[in-house]
Amino acid sequence: MALPNKPLGEIKAVRDPEVEEREVDILIVGGGMACCGAAFEVKKWMKDDQTVLLVDKAALERSGAVAQGLSAINTYIGENTVEDYVRMVRNDLMGIVREDLIYSLGCHVDDSVHLFEEWGLPVWKKDEQGKNLDGKKGLKMGTLKEGATPVRTGKWQIMINGESYKRIVAEAAKLALGEENILERVFIVELLLDANVENQIAGAVGFSVRENKVYIFKCKSMLVACGGAVNIYQPRSVGEGKGRAWYPVWNSGSTYTLCMRVGAELSMMENRFTPARFKDGYGPVGAWFLLFKAKTLNGLGENYAASEAAKAELEKYAPYGTAAITPTCLRNHLMLFEMKEGRGPIIMDTVTALAELGKTMDKKELKHLEAEAWEDFLDMTCGQANLWCATNTEPEKKNSEVMPTEPYLLGSHSGCCGLWASGPDLPWVPDSYKIKADNGKVYNRMTTVNGLFTAGDGVGCSGHKFSSGSHAEGRLAAKQLVRYAVDHADFTPTLAQSSEELVDMVYKPVRTFLDHCEYTTAVDINPNYIKPNGMMYRLMKATHEYGGGTATYYQTTSKSLEIVMDMLAVMREDWEKIAAGDLHELLRAWEIIHRIWTVEAHLRHIQFRKETRYPGFYYQADYPGQDDENWFCFVNSKFDPKEQKWDVFKRDYVKIFKD
Ligand code: FAD
Ligand code: ADX
Repeated sequence: MALPNKPLGEIKAVRDPEVEEREVDILIVGGGMACCGAAFEVKKWMKDDQTVLLVDKAALERSGAVAQGLSAINTYIGENTVEDYVRMVRNDLMGIVREDLIYSLGCHVDDSVHLFEEWGLPVWKKDEQGKNLDGKKGLKMGTLKEGATPVRTGKWQIMINGESYKRIVAEAAKLALGEENILERVFIVELLLDANVENQIAGAVGFSVRENKVYIFKCKSMLVACGGAVNIYQPRSVGEGKGRAWYPVWNSGSTYTLCMRVGAELSMMENRFTPARFKDGYGPVGAWFLLFKAKTLNGLGENYAASEAAKAELEKYAPYGTAAITPTCLRNHLMLFEMKEGRGPIIMDTVTALAELGKTMDKKELKHLEAEAWEDFLDMTCGQANLWCATNTEPEKKNSEVMPTEPYLLGSHSGCCGLWASGPDLPWVPDSYKIKADNGKVYNRMTTVNGLFTAGDGVGCSGHKFSSGSHAEGRLAAKQLVRYAVDHADFTPTLAQSSEELVDMVYKPVRTFLDHCEYTTAVDINPNYIKPNGMMYRLMKATHEYGGGTATYYQTTSKSLEIVMDMLAVMREDWEKIAAGDLHELLRAWEIIHRIWTVEAHLRHIQFRKETRYPGFYYQADYPGQDDENWFCFVNSKFDPKEQKWDVFKRDYVKIFKD
């Protein structure tokens, strides 16, 4: 069971929290799909005397991107080949990906899907006549593992009744790991390097959002998979609509910030995701495009994607633009092209799609089809269903607008930013893709910091893992976490900082508040401090206007980047004065700090890459178009924790699988 909800009102923060210190062999930070995968797997490989702990800032049953549920599993290899999966991901991400990581994930992802079904997740099946059976009816055809045929939306995606997807996955994780090895509602603020061994992870510090308590952990190996980053740019919905975003609001860039702050190398942080979504409700479009075969129209009612102008535009980005499936960024690019030419807005033609499908259906089947259209939202984005109700939208009678969202950073959906992680130690994996630990061994999914691993949104250069792939990747990482801890059994993690220093750091916003809050009558306005909410508005305004936000149709320039970098530097100075009066605000304070670090990495990478690799996601106006000659490579960066300095540099791309 999840922890009970807190009583009415926020929990006041006190100056001196309780402190709890724990030492384990393996620490898992996060509780989403990747960490649930790790939790499920880890004990199978652990020795009897080894210990493990999982720490999630929220409650496992509903935390992370799958919190609301999903209506599809977007990565299921099934009858396809893993090589083709690699090719699909490579094409969607404009060529520059880590094929070793994608391949190794592709080999294991179906096993996770089979487990989900075994644990009770309803997967749609085809019956003998090729008709769709959803919910319990699907079970009549047997399981996927037994050879039943799933309902494919696209080549890689399968339909599920997934409202309770996360609960199902979390239950299995909890059962495997044991409730006693899980701490919920604890936000990790900072990772800690070992005091004696260079570049070795030794622990982490965080705090409870339910009681005034700081946790200090020591460990030999650690997995950090805290998802991607949202609310780093001004969202399209403001005022009373704020808080509605496509990406789950609690993923605040912690994965990238935590790891980069201890010197782990980042890769492709310039990549971002601005998914095209049903406007304002952020309802998913995949099922509409793929399952219902709907088309998008411009404001003149034209199928713009099939026009000669669109073809010519896509040809500029060959071979990706001319591939059978247009890459996600270029699909956005075509939408933006229409809008900028004055032919917006973009409309999903739900009416024609349902009418076409209905032609071969009787009344009952048609009703079921309409129900499926609603369920697609009810399973994963119920706000969109509410919006349809509120705006009298019956999809069979009224079309809906589609719009690309504000930018998000992630590495498991149709984006690929993240950490530079080791590939598997296999002969076909290039040496430059293997990260050697202090003992000379290679540990799959380890970052450039010894003992520190990542998965899901954390692993860069390998998108399109989705929920199933993230789970599988967490399982892959778990095995390596154990292997690392076994190989380093003699290592005793030692922290450089005292407990007192760590508490001072984590509770600084609380003390700043308590020192000054009585100076003014309006608690949020004070010359001595800034509240996290104010800082959030500052960050969003800066990125929105200068960092390629929706304000400028995702366009930025070298000068704009220079300006936003200065703004970030001032924000960094000011965050020393961030104040938190209650535990929720303390969470908000640390989240915004994590967001600012993440944004800085993102913009530094955009600044470094002198081309526009992902038109539709962002445009560097001074360097339009792709420049393969100079930029067909990874852009990596490293923040040196000792020198407090950034280094941004190129790494070679190695092609492993032929076209
Ligand atoms: P998450 O599952 O997001 O988990 C992150 C975890 O980290 C959470 O438990 C969070 O509480 C925790 N955390 C964050 N910060 C901290 C911190 N500082 N300290 C401690 N814990 C922290 N995939 C599909 O297969 N099919 C779909 O239809 C589909 N639809 C999607 C729709 C949306 C709106 C989104 C956002 C994603 C969708 N995905 C879909 C993708 C899928 O949800 C993700 O790929 C997957 O959840 C990524 O797993 P993860 O573990 O990396 O991150
Ligand atoms: S979801 O994860 O929030 O459901 P989305 O609806 O965009 O995402 O996509 C679901 C799946 O469909 C993803 O695998 C995505 O790549 C794919 N997809 C979405 N739209 C299209 C399209 N027009 N053509 C091909 N694939 C698409």
